[in-house]
This record gives sequence, structure tokens and C-alpha cells, in this order.
Amino acid sequence: MNFLIQFAVPPCRRGEKRTQPFGTNVLEWRPTIDHPSWGRVGMSFEFAREFPFARYVEIHDELGSTNDRAAQLAPERDLELPALVLARRQTAGRGRGANRWWSAEGALTFSLLIEPARLGLNSAQWPQLSLATAVAVCDAISAECADSSCELRATIKWPNDVLLDGRKACGILIESPGGEAPAKDRLIIGIGVNVNNSWREAPADLATHTIALCDTTHREHDRLAVLSRLLLALELRIGQLASDSDELPREWQRACWLHNKQVCIQQEHREINGTCRGIDSQGALILKSPDALHRLFSGSVIAVQDSPLFSQSKPRSGCVDSL
Ligand code: BTN
Repeated sequence: MNFLIQFAVPPCRRGEKRTQPFGTNVLEWRPTIDHPSWGRVGMSFEFAREFPFARYVEIHDELGSTNDRAAQLAPERDLELPALVLARRQTAGRGRGANRWWSAEGALTFSLLIEPARLGLNSAQWPQLSLATAVAVCDAISAECADSSCELRATIKWPNDVLLDGRKACGILIESPGGEAPAKDRLIIGIGVNVNNSWREAPADLATHTIALCDTTHREHDRLAVLSRLLLALELRIGQLASDSDELPREWQRACWLHNKQVCIQQEHREINGTCRGIDSQGALILKSPDALHRLFSGSVIAVQDSPLFSQSKPRSGCVDSL
């Protein structure tokens, strides 16, 4: 059974509770449904509160890739934005580069289609969006697991993986739909969070690299609650990026997992080795090698000292095919 629930959410100020019924911008009215997997969902105020920030929502039971669906929506001029595409299950999830993204039942997989200019972001800030998103994921995970007795710290593996205990808990894929206006002025933020999909169910070659929230808290999490926290945090962090707030770079620096580690970064035609000195306010990774101080704006981490999970002999994590 493949459910699709589709609706536009009326505007609502941050943190405000919805008290008004849906307005005329509801695209399609469907009654609340007892969804076999998501529980009771539908066109109720309660349900819409789950999606702060989003103004248009699609919930799919199964999709190839939420990023691909968001790309299909991108040319629609009258679409309310941000548009949220959520899938309970992805059959062809994509990771960075040519990687596929493994996500079993229990993962949270969604994409948010945004128009950066409407959120106050200029194109020079686009590259920092992935770090802002990673910070938002750390916020959401920390809030979701705050009641857990275990000491839990979500960290960022530059440029945009979120780790728990040094293992990948979330991958972020930001893509430009390209083409003509309005699509070319929009961006797709794709996020996959391991929530209830324990590493124990992961393919053998990924199991040691990945981790899910349920692995650290030893309980099942409500994926819609995690999503709701994440959307709130995203709205906040994107706002900070737009206003050039100091707080955002402070957070990505504080959460930098590579800090003071010996790392090897692969760029298109070269590999750079050095000690990580953190992430600067522009989002560049600072690497100190014997002969120079490098500011890197792109690249893949292919080796990390003392981390068997991120060594050249085993460059895989979270997503299938490669790191
Ligand atoms: C990576 O770590 O390589 C990025 C993984 C991004 C996965 C998410 S899941 C939701 C969205 N849809 C996709 O096909 N990919 C992203």
C-alpha cells in the first residue's frame, strides 16, 4: 500500500500554536488516516504542528529518493516553500557523489526544498548551508536524547556528517535542482537520520560505521517527533546563517569531531595530510601540515588518526559504496 498525503500548511510564526483551521491554501483535503506505519496522521491541526517551518508537505509510504521527488517539485512556481517530502521507506536513496544511501525501516528520510533568497540567504552563503544543517541535526538529536541516561554527544564530521560515538548517525545531501527559474534558485536539503534502524540490521560492511539513536538510548523514538525538532532547529540555524550570527560558527567549531586529529582529506586531484585545527567562520576546514596552513572548502575525509572506522583501508560509512 503506498500512501501519499499532500497538503499545504498555513503560515504560522515560530513556536506559535496553530489555532486556526486550515485556510484556502490546502491543496488537497483528506481526512485523518490511520496510517499503518506512521500512526494517526492527516489533516488535523495536531498533525500540522509536527511540521514547523514547512509550508507544503508530502508524506510517502515509499519513494525512490526524497531528493529526486523534491527535484520534480522544484520547477513548480506556485509551490509553498519550504516544501517537505517525507518517505517512510526509500528504495533508491542517494548519498554524496555516486554513493547510495542505506536506510532500513526505522530511519528518518526526508528532503526540504527551499528558496534560499526567501530565507534571507545570498548565494555566497549556500556552501555553509550544509554545516548549518549539520548543527541543526546535532541540536535535534541532543534534544531528542536529553532524557537518556547515557552521555551522548553529537558531533560533526566536516563537511556534513553527524556522528554519535564517532559513528555516522546522519548524512546530509544538499543539491541544486538546476535548470530554469524558479528551480535554479532553489536548493534541496536531503537528510537521512538513523533513528530506529539499529546498526545491528545494517549490511555487514556498514555495521561498524553506523549508529542509530535507538542504539545509544536503548529505546524506540518517534520519528515524527525527531523530524519536528529537526525542522525547528533548521529554521533557527538557517536564520542565524542569514543574519551572520556568530553563534552558528561557534557551534560548528564546538561540534567539530576532527578537531586536533590527524586527518587525510581527498580533493579532486590531491590528498592533503595534516592536523585539523577546526572549522572557521566561513565553513572551511583548517588543516595544519608541516609546510602550510590549508583552508579547505571541499573534500572528503578519507583517513582519521586513531579511528579504525575512518581509515583508508575501510573508507565506508552510513552510505553504501563509500564514505
Ligand atoms: C551522505 O552521507 O552521503 C548523504 C546521505 C543523504 C541521504 C538522504 S536520505 C533523504 C535524502 N534522499 C536521498 O536520496 N538522499 C538524502
